[in-house]
Amino acid sequence: MEATPEGGSLVFTVNGVRFEVPEIDPSTTLLEFLRSRTRFKSVKLGCGEGGCGACVVLLSKYDPMLEQVESFTVSSCLTLLCSINGCSVTTSEGIGNSKDGFHPIHQRFSGFHASQCGFCTPGMCMSLFSALVNAEKKKQPQAPHGFSKLTVSEAEKAITGNLCRCTGYRPIADACKSFAANVDLEDLGINSFWKRGESEEVKVSRLPTYDPKDHICSYSDLKDGYKSLTRLNSKQCSWFSPISINELQDLLHSDLVKDSGKTKLVVGNTGNAYYKETVEYDKYIDLRYIPELSAIRKDNSGIEFGAALSISKVISFLKSENDSNPISDGDLVFMNMANHMEKIATGFIRNSASLGGNLVMAQRKYFPSDIGTLLLAVDSSVIVLTGQKHERITMEEFLYRPPLDTNGILISVHIPFFEPTRVGDSVQTTSKLSFETYRAAPRPLGNALPYLNAAFLADFSQNKSGIVVNKVRLSFGAYGTYHAMRARKVEDYLAGQTLTGLVLDEAIKLVKVAVVSGEGTAHAAYRSSLAVGFLFEFLNSLNTIDSSESCGSFEDSNKSLLGGAAKGNNDRNNGSIQHPELLSSAKQVVESSKDNYPVGEPIKKFGAAIQASGEAVFVDDIPPPPDCLYGAFIYSTKPLARVKGISFNSNKLPTGVAAVISAKDIPSKGENIGTQSMFGAESLFAGEVAMCAGDLIAFVIGDTQKHANLAAKMAIVEYDTEGLDPPILTVEEAVERSSFFDVPPFLYPAKVGDFSKGMAEADHRILTAEIKLGSQYYFYMETQSALAIPDEDNCMVVYSSCQCPEFTHIAIAKCLGIPENNVRVITRRVGGGFGGKALKAMPVATACALAAHTLRRPVKTYLDRKTDMIIAGGRHPIKITYDVGYKSDGKITALHLDILINAGIKADISPVMPNSITGALKKYNWGALSFNFKVCKTNHSSKSAMRAPGEVQGSYIAEAILEHVASSLSMEPDLVRNKNLHTYESLKLFYGDAAGDLVEYTLPSIWDKVATSSRFLARIENIERFNHSNVWRKRGISRVPVVNEVFVRGAPGKVSILWDGSIVVEVGGIDLGQGLWTKVKQVTAYALSSIQCEGTKDLFERIRVVQSDTLSLVQGGFTAGSTTSESSCAAVRLCCDILVERLAPLKKTLQDQMGSVEWDALIVQAHYQSVNLAANSFFVPDLSSVKYLTQGAAVSEVEINILTGETTILRSDIVYDCGQSMNPAVDLGQIEGAFVQGLGFFMLEEYLTNENGLVVADSTWTYKIPTIDTIPKQFNVEVLNTGHNQKRVLSSKASGEPPLLLAASVHCATRAAIKEARKQLKSWGAVEGIDTTFVLDVPATMPTVKRLCGLDTVETYLKYLPSRD
Ligand SMILES: Cc1cc2nc3c(=O)[nH]c(=O)nc-3n(C[C@H](O)[C@H](O)[C@H](O)COP(=O)(O)OP(=O)(O)OC[C@H]3O[C@@H](n4cnc5c(N)ncnc54)[C@H](O)[C@@H]3O)c2cc1C
Ligand code: FES
Ligand code: FES
Repeated sequence: MEATPEGGSLVFTVNGVRFEVPEIDPSTTLLEFLRSRTRFKSVKLGCGEGGCGACVVLLSKYDPMLEQVESFTVSSCLTLLCSINGCSVTTSEGIGNSKDGFHPIHQRFSGFHASQCGFCTPGMCMSLFSALVNAEKKKQPQAPHGFSKLTVSEAEKAITGNLCRCTGYRPIADACKSFAANVDLEDLGINSFWKRGESEEVKVSRLPTYDPKDHICSYSDLKDGYKSLTRLNSKQCSWFSPISINELQDLLHSDLVKDSGKTKLVVGNTGNAYYKETVEYDKYIDLRYIPELSAIRKDNSGIEFGAALSISKVISFLKSENDSNPISDGDLVFMNMANHMEKIATGFIRNSASLGGNLVMAQRKYFPSDIGTLLLAVDSSVIVLTGQKHERITMEEFLYRPPLDTNGILISVHIPFFEPTRVGDSVQTTSKLSFETYRAAPRPLGNALPYLNAAFLADFSQNKSGIVVNKVRLSFGAYGTYHAMRARKVEDYLAGQTLTGLVLDEAIKLVKVAVVSGEGTAHAAYRSSLAVGFLFEFLNSLNTIDSSESCGSFEDSNKSLLGGAAKGNNDRNNGSIQHPELLSSAKQVVESSKDNYPVGEPIKKFGAAIQASGEAVFVDDIPPPPDCLYGAFIYSTKPLARVKGISFNSNKLPTGVAAVISAKDIPSKGENIGTQSMFGAESLFAGEVAMCAGDLIAFVIGDTQKHANLAAKMAIVEYDTEGLDPPILTVEEAVERSSFFDVPPFLYPAKVGDFSKGMAEADHRILTAEIKLGSQYYFYMETQSALAIPDEDNCMVVYSSCQCPEFTHIAIAKCLGIPENNVRVITRRVGGGFGGKALKAMPVATACALAAHTLRRPVKTYLDRKTDMIIAGGRHPIKITYDVGYKSDGKITALHLDILINAGIKADISPVMPNSITGALKKYNWGALSFNFKVCKTNHSSKSAMRAPGEVQGSYIAEAILEHVASSLSMEPDLVRNKNLHTYESLKLFYGDAAGDLVEYTLPSIWDKVATSSRFLARIENIERFNHSNVWRKRGISRVPVVNEVFVRGAPGKVSILWDGSIVVEVGGIDLGQGLWTKVKQVTAYALSSIQCEGTKDLFERIRVVQSDTLSLVQGGFTAGSTTSESSCAAVRLCCDILVERLAPLKKTLQDQMGSVEWDALIVQAHYQSVNLAANSFFVPDLSSVKYLTQGAAVSEVEINILTGETTILRSDIVYDCGQSMNPAVDLGQIEGAFVQGLGFFMLEEYLTNENGLVVADSTWTYKIPTIDTIPKQFNVEVLNTGHNQKRVLSSKASGEPPLLLAASVHCATRAAIKEARKQLKSWGAVEGIDTTFVLDVPATMPTVKRLCGLDTVETYLKYLPSRD
């Protein structure tokens, strides 16, 4: 290839530091480079597939055509390093850090309590930073001093693609909005800058100053260096950037490429997020420098977009086409296309994802593209280059051709301009164009593939008999079909028709036949019903588009056609319901107490700023020691099968692989142990037989994490099932084969009352009703990770991201067969745990230790998201059968439950489940309560503790039963709840000592309080009115109480005072993001201040809590069950009391001598006088306070869309009793975060497995946790300070888990809304799907809600219309 100059170095800057890379494997991503070859570790790997935003960086590059620098976010996990030649990369530590000073973004994230575990925070900060950078480019007057030109809505939207599993997003939204020029500071939530009621000026002055001039990064000047890197060579691989089509063709036909067979054309490389190719390409051809592929050309016929243009660029061009005023119908086509495209993926993906890449994926691999559907509807065409041949073909021809071969190039896409039908040369004045696009996806604002998308273009006019469709193009896609397709039969049918009920009916019949998902597609009937709903909505909208201008006859015809539908269908066309897309308001009420200062203060989380800048060190951020190796698990994909062998495709080990470690490598003195729990030890690796899909078979060790991961993926495991029993995959099979785990008698809950007597007293009975609950995945943002380093004398140091270092320590010692004092486990911080890093982190750490022990080299692992999801286990699925007896007034007299818990293959913590379930279920007075629990041993991966384990199920079961009773009595569920709330006497009966004193039973007052603060009763009336006057949307509201039993365990603490008066604290508890260290610091400062000398006011700032080290502080126990913060606080308080006691005599002496004593002077003297300034303690709760009840209530209101099944949470109000909160800001964060995680469980998250029990929801593509667009639009939380709990640690109460249970209020509200939809269906004459005692599954996903509202609602409605007249 003559035109290609040889070689060259890759040049770019990172945070101003220049890098020149002469050789690199071109498959290297920017993230890999940053994390392994630079000191910039703030880019976190959360998913590696563009789905989480943890790796977002700002890329700035000079555009030589526009002669300006453009800056935009990209996901560094997908961006190939070679594609950033000449660019400047900015990461979160680049905009500010602990050395040079934090950026106001970091400070505000910290001050608004927007960082908990901190793993998502640097990515969030960069998404916001990019929005700020680009806002400055707006041609608008400068924003007021301290603010950006960003609007509130833009600020919130900036982070729509970033996932956070801890905070629930509200505080993050506040931190972002604080920069917006149009923000009302009064609307921003609790923060450490100002107090409520302070004046606007004071508030502004307290916010960390933001000045766009100072705080926008400058582009490192690489203008001269910016040119296409025509060719970059490494040893075997090359990266080419041809600059013309000719050069590209020459290249493709050159020997260099032709024979290699491993060449990849690439633009944004985001396609790799979905297809995760494991092919090792040796040639990459970057298409972005070919002018035809990057140009936008406009002529009389339309706009031609180069295929390599990013989706973002296409969107902004389409939007700019609407700048004309007034906007024509044709412009609206572009506007609506742009609006739809903004829901594709996320901003940071669209910035690099190309138009052509999307279409080629759709064409070649049947990717469920949105763009294909849009373009099909608007009659687009494309230019393709195959061989030497340039062809212009229609979009339809392109999609339906045989897959483009690997050398085929998509050059450009043409979108025509639109005008209404012409007669001769003139536009028909009565003719109008309408273009609408539709998309039903689990997340409204994107980053979720749709169940179905559609785009409809109609040319219509109006005559005396009504609306006449002249022409229409109807395109549907992504519903489980190869390509987007046009519903031609429907189009042909509608052309020339006047819209009447009959015509609509017929069109809908035809659509149902046309839109049929391919075999095996999930929710096929739902997808067809979406097609019906969308077409109905569209045709219906034609009626309403011009109603203002319409004449009487139009209105008449409209009425006769759709009547109430037009009125009731409050979609965006008639605009009567416009919900805010994102969080619109939030209120937090917290009361802080000064009694125990600084305990009780809403102090910001310790370390939040370094978390935001990305300097906080997680396990994978620890620089690997020399000679470090990396591990990746090979797991079983079969439920019960003998493992005959592991091999790789070729005879030799894959690239970089050093060893494959398995059970055979366990030292002779060791045991095959990977987990140690209170119920015993569990195996690390499968022995001869793998017991479940996800069972660990081996640990591949490679020279890099990438090589280890690739090798693990390539491993071929040979299985054999001969002679083995069939696996047990359901709880029913477990019962049949008596496969159970024992529950120790002391953990088996006690029954209450006499069930038979209670049943006899009942007026009504429901017998053998069933509820099923599925699993949930933790989705901590940091996957499991560990680093094991062999030390002298057969010792092992292991850094583990875990919730229970002490037990991890024991498991490692047992596995290696070494004494426990040879092992040291260190945990500094954990990027989210939620129970998943309790027992489930242990085998990961143990496998690293075993490999390190075997190979005598450090071994590290950081699990890829897929492996993590497959082996995690997650929440326990449960099947419940119940008998309930109740009076006619709704009072329940007896309840019996048969509960089958699917525990999976190992006991894990499953034996505690019966107790946890009942602990929350007993929140109501059931009269008599009996149960029969079976903890089933099945061939599934073992289920483990997940935030509120058992409790969320128990609490939900109670609600489901009450709802059932209410439905059967035709009573409002709230009345039945009221009837069955405990009196203090019944509470004592059900909970015994845990009930505490009468004053501690705060639920009755919380119950009323939340009704008042949420205006519950008034809103019930509003909802009735709404439901009466809206046909296609229904609302529901629900109030749900929570009473939950928690247990306090013992915990150690150690406090040491250094010469300069600073203090070091060690505790058993781990900071998982829940603010444990911050509370510990507060208590330490409070307790030490009791020495009463000068200078103790600022002690808080002088305290450092340090990482947990199992040899430095033993008996650390578990960080679980919500109470570790309080026990750790209690432990340090004991230590401080000891220290104060030791210091008191000296202080008195000094005071006598000098009148007053400074803290620093006291400590120096104490050191000189050999006072022991290190104190250890172990807090043991006294027997009377081991258990207690947490209480709260929530009211949620939702709106469902009957056509799509989408649920919008309009508002949630929570009141939660935190006792005397030690830190109301931290507790509030726990409440909001838990509630949103609960929302995920109840509404969104489906942790699906295949028939073998292998997890198939194993990526961000298939598993959808809540994002900012799915949380309540109004989110109000009151942290109640009851302070009645003298037996508690400083009168505080747990907040980590119980609020998760309150999310059931959303589920119950959804059920109420569905009930309304079914009532309406009944009024339309339907006979099926109308009973009110229906079961709403958990999670109540869109297909589930739609199914219950009726998959054929539109058809039923159309049938009903004529009969109504
Ligand atoms: C998290 C995420 C969410 C997404 N959500 C959606 C969604 O909701 N809806 C939707 O429609 N899409 C979605 N996408 C897909 C996204 O639009 C595509 O990944 C992207 O447009 C591909 O462009 P690219 O430049 O990154 O392609 P690349 O990854 O660079 O290339 C993709 C493939 O196309 C080939 N190719 C690229 N350009 C050309 C060309 N001009 N000629 C010939 N071959 C070419 C490449 O060789 C490769 O095989 C999502 C993607 C991600 C990562
Ligand atoms: S790690 Fe890149 S988006 Fe998740
Ligand atoms: S703070 Fe967002 S994931 Fe933990």
